[in-house]
Amino acid sequence: MIIDFHAHIQPGADHGCKNLDMSHNQLLLASQSEVEVVVSVSHFYPLKEELESYLQRQTKAKAELLSLCESNPKLPKVMIGTEVTLCSGLDKMDGLERLCIEGTNCILIEMPFTKWDNKLIETLDSIKYELDLNPILAHVDRYDPKEIEALFSLDIPGQINFYSLLPLFGRKRLLNWINGGHISAIGSDIHDLEPGYKGFDKALKIIGKENISAIMEKSGRLLNL
Ligand SMILES: [Fe+2]
Repeated sequence: MIIDFHAHIQPGADHGCKNLDMSHNQLLLASQSEVEVVVSVSHFYPLKEELESYLQRQTKAKAELLSLCESNPKLPKVMIGTEVTLCSGLDKMDGLERLCIEGTNCILIEMPFTKWDNKLIETLDSIKYELDLNPILAHVDRYDPKEIEALFSLDIPGQINFYSLLPLFGRKRLLNWINGGHISAIGSDIHDLEPGYKGFDKALKIIGKENISAIMEKSGRLLNL
């Protein structure tokens, strides 16, 4: 089973998908790439928005998306989640567990693109070991490898955006992470229709059959599939 663990297809929920028609076309593209499950996330920036207002917007988008899927049973299965940008103290936010991917205790965490301090890392550690949630690091291919490897050593797995495997530059490092068992998910991080899933099949080939089935098994376990 091929799972896209990171796709912005919730209509109007963030700066990704604009409307339901786009959601439909995004899911058609996923389906053409033989994706069977799409984890549909929208961005939540805890320093910019209250949780309740975010959840209201997400609930509306979710209802639209699920009714689209009900009337088009050939589309991939959609699971609703959130891409949560980590900030210090996020572990103390009431209701953080409501941002987990539906039906799971798995939460997609986007590390900030600013310098990480100890407090930030302690927050991540607390989300995993105090709150007993299951964080997975979004698009680990986009950060300083040394900093990401320090998070792997806390036993926190990563998600890779597939297109980062296409250029030769940096590929070896990503394959080392995959071979080392640190990667539990592959995502498109699709925000609109372009470039969509172009190169997805090539990226899967680069990762290799055995690694793909190991990664998809881990994704499936995280999603309770
Ligand atoms: Fe994203």
